[in-house]
Amino acid sequence: MTLTVNGATRSVEASPETPLIYILRNDFELNGPKFGCGLGECGACAVLVDGRSVRSCAMATSTAEGREIVTLEGLATSAAPHPVQRAFIEMQAAQCGYCLNGMIIATAALLRRNPAPDEATIRQALARHLCRCGTHVEILAAVRRAAELMQPEHSGGSA
Ligand code: FES
Repeated sequence: MTLTVNGATRSVEASPETPLIYILRNDFELNGPKFGCGLGECGACAVLVDGRSVRSCAMATSTAEGREIVTLEGLATSAAPHPVQRAFIEMQAAQCGYCLNGMIIATAALLRRNPAPDEATIRQALARHLCRCGTHVEILAAVRRAAELMQPEHSGGSA
């Protein structure tokens, strides 16, 4: 199968129904997506597929062929973080960090389709992302801050 991941075309030999997360982590060594429940329930494994947040544990790799996959590694660089990543750092929205891949991917997808979401929309976008540390207040603050940073008056604010 041939996949487009973080702007690069990559090939892999695998059964078509292999969950995408295994290809990303084991074959392509992209460890941003985390394996949590493996059942599409927790959100830790989220990646962007054609700009939408998708649970890579629940997507057959063959389904991702011909589509644009972006993992956490593809959002930005450590030298120039994505505004969502900057906001999560600024608001100290990490404790153990395991859920953050999914939280950041879901936030990037949300702000791409709705640059100024209200509180209910933010909560709905993150509702199916589990955080067992209880960092929800900081995470919600980070999403609001990310929306601010992505407004046109802020430099580097494109998705
Ligand atoms: Fe994919 Fe939990 S590991 S949703």
